[in-house]
Amino acid sequence: QIFAPERTNSAGVNYQVATERAPLLTAMAPYFQKQWIARSLVQGQEHQPSARHPRYCPYDTSLLWAEVSYADETQCQLAIQQAEQYWPHWHAQDINTRAGLLNALADELEQQMAKLVALCQIEAGKTLADAVNEVREAVDFCRYYASQAQQLWQTEYGVEPWQHLTFERQGRGVFVCICPWNFPLAILVGQVCAALVSGNCVVVKPAPQTCVIAYEAITLMHKIGVPLGALQLILGDAAQGQWLCQQPELAGVAFTGSLLSAKSIQQQLTQHIGAQPPQLIAETAGINCMIVDSTAHLEQVTADVISGAFYSAGQRCSATRILCVQEDIAAALMVLIQGAMLELNIGPADQISTDIGPLIDAAALEKIQRQLTTFEQAGQLLFRTPMDANLNGHFMAPSLFELPTLQQLSEEIFGPVLFVHRFKKSQLDDLVSAINDSGFGLTCAIHSRNQSLMNQLSSRLQVGNIYLNKAQTGAVVGVQPFGGKGLSGTGPKAGGPHYLTAFSQQYCSSAEL
Ligand code: NAD
Ligand code: ALA
Repeated sequence: QIFAPERTNSAGVNYQVATERAPLLTAMAPYFQKQWIARSLVQGQEHQPSARHPRYCPYDTSLLWAEVSYADETQCQLAIQQAEQYWPHWHAQDINTRAGLLNALADELEQQMAKLVALCQIEAGKTLADAVNEVREAVDFCRYYASQAQQLWQTEYGVEPWQHLTFERQGRGVFVCICPWNFPLAILVGQVCAALVSGNCVVVKPAPQTCVIAYEAITLMHKIGVPLGALQLILGDAAQGQWLCQQPELAGVAFTGSLLSAKSIQQQLTQHIGAQPPQLIAETAGINCMIVDSTAHLEQVTADVISGAFYSAGQRCSATRILCVQEDIAAALMVLIQGAMLELNIGPADQISTDIGPLIDAAALEKIQRQLTTFEQAGQLLFRTPMDANLNGHFMAPSLFELPTLQQLSEEIFGPVLFVHRFKKSQLDDLVSAINDSGFGLTCAIHSRNQSLMNQLSSRLQVGNIYLNKAQTGAVVGVQPFGGKGLSGTGPKAGGPHYLTAFSQQYCSSAEL
């Protein structure tokens, strides 16, 4: 059953209404004034930092707002040892105790909404809407996995004519969770809570760009009672991640990030197998298409393209990257999309009028600019939203490019960039084959008023999440279980009924009757 019964998703804030918005903004204000720090937490202890890294705000690069320090090898070693030592105690805990902690964490996250929203803005450059939704998704993961665990961990019985069977579920051991910066709270909380509630001890390594959010989240988890031995935080970049993945004692790694990093992690795990082959759950990139045929409702398509391609500054794995539009309606649709792009407000994340905030850092901006050079040199740029030249951050104007063949885009471009590919109705079959041949398979949207066509396309597309006549971003926990196929992910889907099965194993005992 996908919809676990005793659970509702976290309520939102209607920030369009000033009276609802004002209390949140007032509560957030002090957090923008503070100087933050983040350190690794091994057995709950902060260690003396060796190298300190200053952090500047992505939408105001003159603002030095935090200092973080990365773990050294001794700390990484100690974190793994502590997690291993604590595992027998943790996995012997009653499932209701572990699930209770997740529910307590959900309540605490809601209590701390103002602080967490402010941090999602200042550290990850999220707009208010995205930041509030980020906290809500984290809350939803906690309550959903708590409820799923209570169902899945019920002992199952089977009676054969001559034997009695008992099935029980248990955690696997020590899990390393490696997280990206684009959902710095939700994905981290989702991975860590799934691993913990399933009876694993966790060493979590967040993305280097979003260490402060991670530090605050892990501190909250310890505060509500997650034992220090069960949860260790290692701050760092790829080097710390690599070191952790080379430990032969691991039961598994839950990773979300780029395809390149996933491949490297898989390699490290296979080279360092210890007592058990570690489980790898890897959710990666997408080159996601939206297919629009001539029967589609163009205003709806426009709204979904704008939110799917450009909101969150296009920094979603699920983002609409290629708009495949039937050529009969392409010109009309381009007019609507360009009109809507003109209305987009690019600016600092903490301004309420901002639609499109900054990219995460200078490296991301440079990478995308490099990736786009070939398309620009080939004269494929169709339109770009005007942007204030005085903005002081990693801003990129939403842009629209022509894409004559899908093969021309072979790697993910992680920013506010949309490619338009025009097709003839007679080419639909080839289009689906080309989408499948990319090897990526995360999301696809289909806009049409022809139900049988949508059914046909859906059954052929090799992607994890298909959205019909709606935007392809913003999967809701427990409603749209999320995760890719092929190069985009191993599954099982996050926020879905099978996720916890990958963090646990089922044992069967049989007795003679
Ligand atoms: P990234 O791969 O650069 O980093 C992700 C994490 O992996 C970071 O914590 C990083 O330090 C660590 N890491 C990097 N190299 C490593 C290695 N060799 N060994 C161990 N750890 C390593 O990704 P990112 O830039 O943080 O995030 C953006 C990417 O994540 C995009 O490709 C996006 O599509 C993807 N993403 C996917 C999903 C999904 O559910 N499919 C969700 C969010 C983001
Ligand atoms: N789960 C996120 C979305 O659907 C990535 O946009």
